[in-house]
Amino acid sequence: MDQTGKIRTGILGVGKYIPERILTNADLEKMVDTSDEWITTRTGMKTRHIAAKDEAASDMAVKAAERALKSAGLKAEDIGLIIVPTITPDMFFPSTACQLQNKLGITNVPAFDISVACSGFVYGIAIADQFIKSGQYKYALVVAAEKLSCVTDWTDRSTCVLFGDGSGAVVLGPVEKGGILNAHLGADGSKGGLLQLPAGGSKLPASKETVENKLHTIKMEGNILFKYAVKIMADAAKAVTEPLGLTGDDINLIIPHQANIRILNAFAKKMGVDPEKKVYLNIEKYGNMSAASSAVALVEAVEEGRIKRGDKILMVAFGGGLTWGALVIEW
Ligand code: ACO
Repeated sequence: MDQTGKIRTGILGVGKYIPERILTNADLEKMVDTSDEWITTRTGMKTRHIAAKDEAASDMAVKAAERALKSAGLKAEDIGLIIVPTITPDMFFPSTACQLQNKLGITNVPAFDISVACSGFVYGIAIADQFIKSGQYKYALVVAAEKLSCVTDWTDRSTCVLFGDGSGAVVLGPVEKGGILNAHLGADGSKGGLLQLPAGGSKLPASKETVENKLHTIKMEGNILFKYAVKIMADAAKAVTEPLGLTGDDINLIIPHQANIRILNAFAKKMGVDPEKKVYLNIEKYGNMSAASSAVALVEAVEEGRIKRGDKILMVAFGGGLTWGALVIEW
């Protein structure tokens, strides 16, 4: 609670889990007609991690969640709410959040997934913030977990070089100072066709044809999305910082969704900030892990000491839907 008696939400602990297996650009050169040079210059990616065959989203989520709980100095029983942003859930239902809850050995707390693609982690934090600020729950876990390798068409060079697997988690709870200062969320369903996984749902249930036509894998109009991405991220950043009277100069570190280095450089230019100094990047190591990308980026920025108490952090993400979200957090 702050001096005015209002509850403020802060990040109390962070944790990540990255699967062991590394897929390099050289490996991809043997799988599709591509080159290390093309992937590096067009995306900024060098490696990505691929989960084991028997490793589902909840298996990665529980490892990230346990590390986040440890770093917060809390136990699973302290958690009042579990949110799992994912577009690669273990299965349609029960939700991955319910499976995570079970793996954490707790019961009787609300747990649900959100399907917001790459913006999911920012959405998840913004939702949890509302429940904490209202006083309904004291501590929440937001755990982004994605196994994009299982929805990737490994014969499509325009997408298969981009994605990776992983999980990042935060524990949120009340803080006396700072915390989440503002959140901005948005969506534009009219552009949903630019990035989708067409089959497996009620519109196109799984069939021999959907499998043969590879409709259970990600389809993306990459170059159209690229143009939207830069504008969407810049607009979202403005929408969340302006009401606070902040500009790029006041932000100590930007933690963006890691979709493409060129998108991030163009976004930094629009924000008027030096990407080398102010934009946290780990795209080279992990590629695009959808909701887990910004989550793992936040965790690593903390682990590397890039974020200090009192710093103002801007998180900004966009993804399929289309969706977007931004947060300003005072650490
Ligand atoms: N290796 C070699 N050549 C390739 C590859 C590859 N891996 N992929 C595509 N190409 C070729 C294309 O076939 C094309 O060749 P052509 O000119 O002979 O037709 C050429 O490269 C250019 O293709 P573009 O698609 O125009 O390439 P672009 O510069 O746009 O880069 C990319 C493609 C990396 C996908 C980029 O558009 C991008 O990052 N887009 C945004 C993706 C994104 O942000 N998605 C949203 C988040 S993901 C989520 O929500 C799950």
